[in-house]
Amino acid sequence: MAKKSKSSAAPVAVAAAPSRINIGISEKDRAAIAGGLSHLLADSYTLYLTTHNFHWNVTGPMFNTLHLMFMGQYTELWNAVDPIAERIRALGHPAPGSYAQFGALTSLKDAPSTPPKALDMVRILVEGHEAVARTARSIFPLADKAGDEPTADLLTQRLTVHEQTAWMLRSLLED
Ligand SMILES: [Fe+2]
Repeated sequence: MAKKSKSSAAPVAVAAAPSRINIGISEKDRAAIAGGLSHLLADSYTLYLTTHNFHWNVTGPMFNTLHLMFMGQYTELWNAVDPIAERIRALGHPAPGSYAQFGALTSLKDAPSTPPKALDMVRILVEGHEAVARTARSIFPLADKAGDEPTADLLTQRLTVHEQTAWMLRSLLED
């Protein structure tokens, strides 16, 4: 009986050790920025869910306007969470992605379990967009200090959207 030589066996896959991240941002700065972006991700996801909830549950004479407006807004927020999560990954950290993590990280309240009146929905969303803008703005000093232009660019884009959306929603509350 021929002996099987060890060398003829299929090579055993060995998990490669992750290579060190060397993009010119210190480990400490990457951790601080990823931490800030985790708050921004949780805020954005929570605001996405609340906006989709309101799209489903809005009632009253403004139904059609708000139902469609909320759809545009939740679609934008849904598309926004991916680049935020992927920037966290590019900085070498895991992206939070569970309701428990988002609940612990977000600065926004969860959507009310009883659907509010239409204009109260608008008020809640104004406050939500303003809260996300404050979270995004609070990360700027970290990104600036570290020379992290991709994060600063992402924050600029998110601030533009949240401040513009807050203005549009706020306008609905005026006489
Ligand atoms: Fe729908």
